[in-house]
Amino acid sequence: MQRVYSVRSAQPTHDQLALQETVFHNANGYLGVRGTLEEGAPRGMETMRGAYVNGFYETVPMKQAERLTHVREEKESMINAADVQGVRLCLAGEPFSQWTGELLHCERLLDMDRGVTERHVIWRSPQGRETKLLFRRMASFAEPSLFLIDCEVTPLNYAGEVEVESTHLALVKNYANPNDPRLAGESECHLVPAGSLVEDGTSYLSVRTRVSGLSLTTGVRHAMEPPPQDARTVYDSAAHAAAFRASVALEQGQPLRLQKYCVFSDERRHGDTLTAARQAMAGVFGRAEALYRAQQETLAAFWESADTTILGDSDANLSMQFNLYQLFQSAGRDGLCSIAAKGLSGEGYEGHYFWDTEMYMMPFFTLTMPQLARKLLGYRYRTLEAARENARLLGHLKGALYPWRTIDGRECSGYFLAGTAQYHIVGDIAYAVSAYYNATGDREYLIAEGAEMLLETARLWMGVGHMAQGRFLINCVTGPDEYTCLVNNNYYTNACAKNNLEQAVRAAQLLEEWGVYGEWAARLGVTREELDGFACAAEAMYLPYDETLGINPQDDSFLQKPVWDIAATPRDKFPLLLNYHPLQLYRYQVCKQADTVLAHVLFEELAAKDVRERSFRYYEKITTHDSSLSNCIFCIEACRLGLRREARAYFGDSVKTDLLNTHGNSKDGIHTANMGGCYMAVVNGFAGLRLCADGVKVDPFLPEGWTGLRFSFQYRGSRLRFEMADGRYRVRLLAGGPVSVLTPERACRLERPGDEAEGKTR
Ligand code: BGC
Repeated sequence: MQRVYSVRSAQPTHDQLALQETVFHNANGYLGVRGTLEEGAPRGMETMRGAYVNGFYETVPMKQAERLTHVREEKESMINAADVQGVRLCLAGEPFSQWTGELLHCERLLDMDRGVTERHVIWRSPQGRETKLLFRRMASFAEPSLFLIDCEVTPLNYAGEVEVESTHLALVKNYANPNDPRLAGESECHLVPAGSLVEDGTSYLSVRTRVSGLSLTTGVRHAMEPPPQDARTVYDSAAHAAAFRASVALEQGQPLRLQKYCVFSDERRHGDTLTAARQAMAGVFGRAEALYRAQQETLAAFWESADTTILGDSDANLSMQFNLYQLFQSAGRDGLCSIAAKGLSGEGYEGHYFWDTEMYMMPFFTLTMPQLARKLLGYRYRTLEAARENARLLGHLKGALYPWRTIDGRECSGYFLAGTAQYHIVGDIAYAVSAYYNATGDREYLIAEGAEMLLETARLWMGVGHMAQGRFLINCVTGPDEYTCLVNNNYYTNACAKNNLEQAVRAAQLLEEWGVYGEWAARLGVTREELDGFACAAEAMYLPYDETLGINPQDDSFLQKPVWDIAATPRDKFPLLLNYHPLQLYRYQVCKQADTVLAHVLFEELAAKDVRERSFRYYEKITTHDSSLSNCIFCIEACRLGLRREARAYFGDSVKTDLLNTHGNSKDGIHTANMGGCYMAVVNGFAGLRLCADGVKVDPFLPEGWTGLRFSFQYRGSRLRFEMADGRYRVRLLAGGPVSVLTPERACRLERPGDEAEGKTR
């Protein structure tokens, strides 16, 4: 099976151009470059020429309208790092551009097996010269510093000179849109020149961010075949930019190959960035073919572990592959960074990391690439100290309060009601720690980092909540649903906190069993009384329940509010957040996204099935799904409740969110949480997979229209494959074992590779 997504178009329209820049961006977890056309776009067309390095940020002002004590007035913002995308071609005296002359053929594609994007063009110039052009791009997984543009230009009906001008601009700005709260409001250049060097036709341009003081060097070098008659690289100190200019005479039908090697080195990873950039260039230059092969090998290994195939619905299947590929492209792998809400594809949400990583994307990595999941958790451990400081800032004497949105560990949410107040992120990170441990049994991780994170997050809850009349209450927080703010006893938050406290106690027990408790407890000042306190608070955790409706209310006051009339709200007023004052929304029962339903998915055991079912029915009437994090969760719960029609409907087009631009903002970047959520919908929803302490459980059902489903996953070092087709399913042990498998029909134990558990699909 080939995994290729392609778009054929005569000419991208105004809307499509920026969208395609997102869809066809190249990234490798370290750097990401938007799929901007090499020749640029005509004036007036929306284009965002962005290249980003994961975790490379500037500290920018975040002015509050009124001064509020201990509310941060600066934030970290992902910086557009450089513009290395410009390649202008002049073909026998006529400048090439998709917007002049005639496009006889134009196709853009993303090849997810080879890890490249391509643009194939046959262009007839205004004077009738026809040229075949191919632009191939790659962000290398083997050499993460490298972004490569590889062009092939063939004159089809003429012979003539091809002139090349390839640019390297160091002082770039970020994109801004003052009308969209999800983007930066103003644009300025955050970079200052910090050195330049031109050697061997290679330009190295160094910059430093004005306030955060982070350095970055980009290097650009070209290879041409046939070699140019004249080639020179010139540096313009006023613009802190370089340009490579060359020309070559071509026969009719003779191809020109131009390769533009661009390397990025940043101070956080590489120390002396110029030295690192020169080394990186020396390591990659002239090796394009070998690096293409390495790229293909990396992806073959990726698909081997991550392939998730939907049979019978080729559109959904391709979109699924697209989503998984994007998750792989977006994930930071060095423990210094994580996965931004838009990956490395655009500037939406300013490159910030949210709970999205732990709750929506980690399940994919934990099940398919646990080593990468470990790195993502490592990033949170690295920022634990900053989370402790954040807790103190908010008046908590103990524990760690992770920021709602951040890059380097500090709180970056400007609007604390729907930001900092989302304390559930603490429980989300703790959830991911224990889910990772549960899935991998990685004892070293728990001892070295995980247990400490569980402890510090549990400590936070003890300071946020309090006991009253035998119940542990958590007041004045915001749950995941951002249309309801600052409430008492948000069901999701309390359920997460309960789990967090229990997992901290459990981790301490494990350390005890492994004989390392004493040293750990002494280092972190843990006492038995403290752990007993966690256990009591977890036991007494208050989880709102309404007797009359028989549901779990989202929080203490939720059901007292009037219900927002979603049906009567004009279609063009969605998403509500862009059309109504927040206070107006807060006074109603209306949900942006899954909140209590998400709690029911994660902590099934806390509510009886009939309560979950009534709750599901209740919340589906008042949820707008204005957040892309919502439908996938409703889908999982519908699967668990046996609501087939609903499950299929909720899965619906979620999987195609970015390919169909269903939220209308994919031009600002992909929706990574939704991508992970769709994976969860398939694996945890339709296949009904749960990882338990003593094995795995499946509860499969195939939605209408699909003929089969298969995916591989890992559990405690063993590899397993799930397959469902023709009314039957099977779970096969591929490597490792033994693994216990619980199916709706029976409990089995897969002893050795090849063993299977099977049964009839619901
Ligand atoms: C959602 C949050 C999410 C954020 C980033 C918001 O629209 O409400 O839950 O973390 O987007 O994806």
